[in-house]
Amino acid sequence: MANESTGRIDNVMHEARVFPPTPEFQAKASISSLEQYQQMWDEAKANPPAFWDKIAKTELHWFEPYRKTLEWNEPFAKWFVDGKTNASYNCLDRHLSTSRRDKPAIIWEGEPGDTRTLTYAELHSEVCRFANGLKKLGIQQGDVVSIYMPMTPELAIAMLACARIGAIHSVIFAGFSAEAIADRNQDASARVVLTSDGAWRRGKELSLKATVDEALKKSPTVEKCVVLKRVGNDVEMQPDRDIWWHDLIESVNDDCPAEPFDSETALFILYTSGSTGKPKGIKHTTAGYNLFAKQTFEWVFDHRDDDIYWCTADCGWITGHSYVVYGPLSAGATCLMYEGAPNFPDEGRFWNLIEKYKVTILYTAPTAIRAFIKWGDEWVDKHDISSLRLLGTVGEGINPEAWMWYHEKIGASRCPIVDTWWQTETGGIMMSPLPGAIPTKPGSCTKPLPGVIPGIFDENNEPCEKNQGGKLTITHPWPGMLRGIWGDEARYKQQYWSTVPNCYLAGDNARLDDDGYYWIMGRIDDVINVSGHRLSTIEVESALITHPNVAESAVVGRPHDIKGQAIAAFVTLRDAEPSDELKAALKLHVRKEIGALAVPDDIRFTAVLPKTRSGKIMRRLLRDIASGKESLGDMSTLEDVASLSKLQEED
Ligand code: WTA
Repeated sequence: MANESTGRIDNVMHEARVFPPTPEFQAKASISSLEQYQQMWDEAKANPPAFWDKIAKTELHWFEPYRKTLEWNEPFAKWFVDGKTNASYNCLDRHLSTSRRDKPAIIWEGEPGDTRTLTYAELHSEVCRFANGLKKLGIQQGDVVSIYMPMTPELAIAMLACARIGAIHSVIFAGFSAEAIADRNQDASARVVLTSDGAWRRGKELSLKATVDEALKKSPTVEKCVVLKRVGNDVEMQPDRDIWWHDLIESVNDDCPAEPFDSETALFILYTSGSTGKPKGIKHTTAGYNLFAKQTFEWVFDHRDDDIYWCTADCGWITGHSYVVYGPLSAGATCLMYEGAPNFPDEGRFWNLIEKYKVTILYTAPTAIRAFIKWGDEWVDKHDISSLRLLGTVGEGINPEAWMWYHEKIGASRCPIVDTWWQTETGGIMMSPLPGAIPTKPGSCTKPLPGVIPGIFDENNEPCEKNQGGKLTITHPWPGMLRGIWGDEARYKQQYWSTVPNCYLAGDNARLDDDGYYWIMGRIDDVINVSGHRLSTIEVESALITHPNVAESAVVGRPHDIKGQAIAAFVTLRDAEPSDELKAALKLHVRKEIGALAVPDDIRFTAVLPKTRSGKIMRRLLRDIASGKESLGDMSTLEDVASLSKLQEED
């Protein structure tokens, strides 16, 4: 039950430290006591739709009011039924008649150091122009637009332009391969791809357009490709298909009223890994998602108008959708956006940015924090980061040691840490401390947000006792929940709603402690978490198996100091002998099939894969071998593996 693959649980099981918010923080916080939180949570639990109804009425703009808060036909939810709103309007137009009009919405810095600031009025104008550009290409409500771009303001502009006209964006992280892009284009029947000539990464140019060109050979539904000039390298433009971003918007104006859309209009698809080889397109819709992203942003980050907020996530992931774009912009926040690597030109870049822009809220990933620890305190010490008042983490559990470093070194033992648990599927943060109200414990995401009602169940689907680990579920629909898997209703039902009756299955194990705090214990499926990125082991196996010399493969996660988990692959060969060259070739192959983020750290050749009598690969044994808990000597010896697997089977 414990998270065998990271060993984190061994640490957090013994964690007893508690950190209450400081009186100074509490004095200014909008939710400032445990009692206040508890009251909100209890009120929401008693009648979730009534609770959300009250919030939705004021927090979103309604062109037409909804007539019912929730229509629940398990597992299909409709929130704010028949209401009409527009996410781009909520993020932009709503602020234009207020003092936020001329407030910076996005402060951007490119990796080479170039900068750009867009006020809400300017961002609005840019979004309107690009939306008109998309219309010129014939894009209409319901059309899918793939976005494969670096972290530039134009990426956010593109997302909001789609939302404005009802096009469905599908952002593909710019580290994915041509194959992965083509799969996603195909699955979603994308009509247009937005990309850039290139991107900066650690001082080098990544040629995004060339990758898209490759992908478009296998993307028959894509008619047009819009290319942003970012690095200025040479790209091939295919005359009838490719168009420069600046040319597209040159002849359009910025008059593009936000269209009223039904609450349940699809807003975006975002592909994520599940327990099979094929990533699934998680579908989110307009009103519920927008409300949930906005409200959770305000609660968790205790947002104030003078904050400079920095979420370091890329818009290629859900964190970038909800907490770089839709949440903070709906709330009228000023967001810092940074294009590049944390160690360029040196390991102090993040602290330099915080000092330069006087960042008050930093939201980042445990894998980054572990890298900072490794790089050394001297990089932090060179900068004045005293503007910070609140810190956050997301994407994976944080080990108490890293939490303590973050707290002491970055937070000066003063800033609360919000450890936020949520998923692509949940649309927004589900469990997290409210920083002025809930004392924190290192390694725990503490308590569910108001309106979120979790349950933990054992293998017989009986509710778990306190301190007993079990399957984490959500027992009542919430506005930000996914509305389905793109084009696969059966998989949606099966994956999330068929294990524990009437509950959403998160896919994580968790336990509740004596104080009502939740501790996430890792995945129950074959999903691994590499540097905070979700990957299916089967996805990597499927990629390996397409190489002509691979007969069979098994992929598992093993603990890694920085990444959390690293990918370990066991491979049996055909028509080839084990060699370092072949290892390198297989790594390159995975990079080509999925992307750099899926390349195995270790590849071991083996004569056979250990299997049970019924033919199932013994993954637990492979995990033990990969993590060094089980020593096998030379893995290519058939007898060793065979005898070990036999032993395990007889246990
Ligand atoms: C893991 C990222 C522990 C978890 C927003 C979940 C976490 C998966 C935490 C979702 C956390 C995310 N503590 N584990 N604070 N946050 N996870 O879809 O296993 O990329 O199921 O969403 O990441 O990853 P996804």
